[in-house]
Amino acid sequence: MAGLLAKFGHYTHAVVRGIPSSLATEALRSSEAEVDLTRARQEHADYVEVLRTRLGLEVVELPADEALPDCVFVEDAAVVCGDTALITRPGAVSRRGETEAMKEALKKLDLNLVEMTDENATLDGGDVLFTGQEFFVGLSKRTNQRGAEILADAFKDYAVSTVPVTEGLHLKSFCSMGGPGLIIIGASEHAQKALKTMQQMSNYRYDKLTVPDDLAANCIYMNLPGKGHVLLHSTGDTFPESFKVLEKLTDCTLIAVSGSEKMKVDGALTCCSILINKKTDI
Ligand code: GLY
Repeated sequence: MAGLLAKFGHYTHAVVRGIPSSLATEALRSSEAEVDLTRARQEHADYVEVLRTRLGLEVVELPADEALPDCVFVEDAAVVCGDTALITRPGAVSRRGETEAMKEALKKLDLNLVEMTDENATLDGGDVLFTGQEFFVGLSKRTNQRGAEILADAFKDYAVSTVPVTEGLHLKSFCSMGGPGLIIIGASEHAQKALKTMQQMSNYRYDKLTVPDDLAANCIYMNLPGKGHVLLHSTGDTFPESFKVLEKLTDCTLIAVSGSEKMKVDGALTCCSILINKKTDI
């Protein structure tokens, strides 16, 4: 397992998708905040540019689909680990169509596809935390036990544990990996409780970094050739207090990425890309 952890965060490709105009009015959301579409598109273009130019990933950009207002949140449509891609069955009916384009894109990348066809199963990728050693799957409004069981079948090399998500949209709405063995977690009571559950269920030891804002705990960790450890995180404008905590991470390159418009429709940084490692030897 140590060998697998050594490759944790290695990526060569990213799949992203454009923002349809329908996001502004029809994307699912928990608040009534109004989305500035122009700003959301600019933020997304900046995010994609970081992946492509600053980090050197090969980016596959799927076109936006007006009939799928949430389609920019590609993470929910598939879970990729190694050379296997699980095409999910998203919990929201309005989002089920998002998997079609994702399936085609991942097929072209020569991944082994597993499709979640069981009509009793639901799973959003935002509920899936891969630590490099095991999976945690949030049981939320979007993801159920059957979905977690199918994920466990698809990725048999890893243990899969479930965690109740009692508030917020997804498991990763309040946590993510900050590096091998490091979980970044929000300060809210439900986030801390979920972390305790994960620690109790695991055979591994994880360090934690608590940030005051739950959504600021959603970061993207990568370990890239020639770049080393990199952490994409929300900007200081969006979360000033959490920014101060993240700034203390001195052993990685910190890249601040703005996503405040997408947050109005419950989108976080990890939601907007599927990261893939096509080179097993880097
Ligand atoms: N707007 C993201 C979601 O609710 O799935």
